Amino acid sequence: MISPDSNLYKNIVTTWKTPGEQWLAQFPTHIKKIEALWNLEPIQPIDNLSFHFVGATKRRSDGLEVVIKTGCDIESLDRERQWLRHFNGVAAQVLESDKNLGVTMMERLVPGTTLKHSKQLDDDAQTLIIAEMIRELNSRSIISGAFKHLAELAKDLDVLEGAVDPRMLSKARGIFSELTFDRSQDRLLHGDLHHDNILKHKHSWKVIDPHGYIGDPTFEMAVMMYNPLDAYPVNRPLRKTLERRMSILNEYINFDMQRMKAWAFAAAMISTAWDYGDTKKLLGIPFLVAQELRS
Ligand SMILES: Nc1ncnc2c1ncn2[C@@H]1O[C@H](COP(=O)(O)OP(=O)(O)O)[C@@H](O)[C@H]1O
Ligand SMILES: [Mg+2]
Repeated sequence: MISPDSNLYKNIVTTWKTPGEQWLAQFPTHIKKIEALWNLEPIQPIDNLSFHFVGATKRRSDGLEVVIKTGCDIESLDRERQWLRHFNGVAAQVLESDKNLGVTMMERLVPGTTLKHSKQLDDDAQTLIIAEMIRELNSRSIISGAFKHLAELAKDLDVLEGAVDPRMLSKARGIFSELTFDRSQDRLLHGDLHHDNILKHKHSWKVIDPHGYIGDPTFEMAVMMYNPLDAYPVNRPLRKTLERRMSILNEYINFDMQRMKAWAFAAAMISTAWDYGDTKKLLGIPFLVAQELRS
């Protein structure tokens, strides 16, 4: 059911190595267990999967349309569920879960179009929807010990040692230490808030797929600055897109311009480090964004 040629298959093997391969090998049995556990109709994979298997189905007992999300990293799926439950209403509703199987059953968002695929909305309109989402999340946030602090991300930069200009690296490290020192305003953050993780549901938008970090509220705008990775606006210079997005966020949620610029740079460097760790190449939008924001 997961083809070895698919992105999902390749990503799982690259990211989780042997445990990923083992998980893929037992996948057909795994899916059967999930269908039996909750008495579901056969689960149909959703298109364009990347790191987790997400499938749509119906609950036989009441015909409710649901999705199941499963993967080999059981702990991260567990944290994701805690996060989704805390933000229930703004986030897709968790209906059932099984920690041992590493699976979550969620309400199916309908039509479920991602913000990225909502082509009738231009970049400004999409940015405004993200701004509204950030405001909503920020107003309901708590602090919980189950989640990593943003400060812990800084060590992921180490892989870039010798690969990028050392000044970029020290700037990114400096931002992490400076902006994670005072923790008095910290919040529970989504941590991966961008156009692929915001889905249309009836007449509103709901969020999915959190990383879940504790930290400075302004960080929440940083990941969208280098997204969507595969559909970044090309109709104007990169700097214009970055400035325009920050000015909308500043107007709508009052985030400080310098702080946004700093976090956008640091987050782009983290994403660059993750890419470089996997590919040993400095390609892609995050690195371009980091270079644009370095001064
Ligand atoms: N509750 C949901 N309702 C409808 N579609 C969903 C739902 N959750 C996920 N999806 C679809 O599955 C895709 C992958 O889900 P996501 O949680 O982002 O996985 P990953 O962790 O691999 O990025 C989403 O882009 C979306 O299209
Ligand atoms: Mg996702």
